[in-house]
Amino acid sequence: MSSVIVVGTQWGDEGKGKIVDLYAEDADAVVRFQGGNNAGHTIVVQGKQTILHLIPSGILHNYKTCMLGNGMVIDPRVLIEEIDYLKKENAFPPNTKLVISDKAHVIMPYHRRVDAAREAAKGAGKIGTTQRGIGPAYEDKVSRVGIRICDLLDSEVLTEKIKRNVEEKNFYLTKLYGEQPIDEKPILDEYMGYADVLRPHVADISLLLDVAIRQKKKILFEGAQGCHLDVDYGTYPFVTSSNTVAGNACCGAGVGPTKIDSVVGIVKAYTTRVGSGPFVTELNDEIGQRIQSVGQEFGATTGRKRRCGWLDMVLVRQSVRVSGITGMAITKLDVLTGIDKLKICVGYRTDKGEEFTKSVPADLKVFERCQPVYMELDGWTEDINTAKRLEDLPRNTRRYVDTLENLCGVKVVLVSVGADRNETIVTENPFRR
Ligand code: IMP
Repeated sequence: MSSVIVVGTQWGDEGKGKIVDLYAEDADAVVRFQGGNNAGHTIVVQGKQTILHLIPSGILHNYKTCMLGNGMVIDPRVLIEEIDYLKKENAFPPNTKLVISDKAHVIMPYHRRVDAAREAAKGAGKIGTTQRGIGPAYEDKVSRVGIRICDLLDSEVLTEKIKRNVEEKNFYLTKLYGEQPIDEKPILDEYMGYADVLRPHVADISLLLDVAIRQKKKILFEGAQGCHLDVDYGTYPFVTSSNTVAGNACCGAGVGPTKIDSVVGIVKAYTTRVGSGPFVTELNDEIGQRIQSVGQEFGATTGRKRRCGWLDMVLVRQSVRVSGITGMAITKLDVLTGIDKLKICVGYRTDKGEEFTKSVPADLKVFERCQPVYMELDGWTEDINTAKRLEDLPRNTRRYVDTLENLCGVKVVLVSVGADRNETIVTENPFRR
């Protein structure tokens, strides 16, 4: 099998970074296809932690091509900082390539300003965005006024586009939000500097992927966020501004759907969410706090505490369907060790008698009325970090894993029992089938 997509099945932060890093060992190219530096992937190798926001996790390996797809929105300042950081840490092997799509969109300072101003104006109704300018950058893309990486490399086009955009954004900033205007000259100088640094990395990644796929190279598509932050299929409007479901790997990287062989869905053994929005299985009690602290559930990008709750299989089932998931990777199972009784949400019910088992209601008002229907399983107290095979897991842990498999009808291909690369049970590697 040569092309594998990895996506999160919940609200992001499922631990994709570790899994992508693991699969990257077998891949020739690792491609991100949506989002920007709203994502944060934490990877721990031999106790050393690396947090990546833009660059695919494959960068830590030798002889890989890491690609930033056209479906992404890229803040060049952050990208350059990330490159410098990796080089300083000796974590950017010289034989590994970084390629940036010429069609990816660029996050500009006015995007960050509008993101922050809009959130502030919303007050209690805010989305809780990462304030990285993600939404406004995608808005410009769809409005056809966005600045792409290829524009960044052309000073004439860049000058003209910045001028027009600053004019428009200043209207919003000053008239709508009562903020100070933004000045175009420093932006132009700053971004021209970025162009020089990034130029050697820019290419048409669709063409490169086509050649690689013909040569039977192994391609790993790395999703960011999770399926329930998808702008179409997530809990709208409390979502990000891109399609996070597996189908967007094709659009966001320029490959046809017939070239994809399998989709691995990452399922964290419980649920977390950062930012606002409904969360049926949220735990505002001691167990929730315990999961938050044992699981170190802080946003890798913003440092915010993540909201925690029981595993919600309605979310997972919808993701399995919408993303066509063929294998499930369960993460952070060790975090549940020591909890006496574990609950899994198998459906929602409302006071009006509505029931949902496979699909999240589109109407937020209905979603907010949903109450969880739980099944309960006995927990375990044994350490599971050293397990290398499913058979090594305690009986109750094994039952939890089997239950997940049965509830979503997808086989388990991996179970993560600790943060480190080697604290992992691999039952099937999608690249070695
Ligand atoms: P934005 O992507 O910054 O516009 O934020 C929109 C929503 O998506 C907010 O609730 C964010 O907290 C959430 N979000 C964005 N990126 C991530 C992520 O990588 N993990 C978890 N939540 C995210």
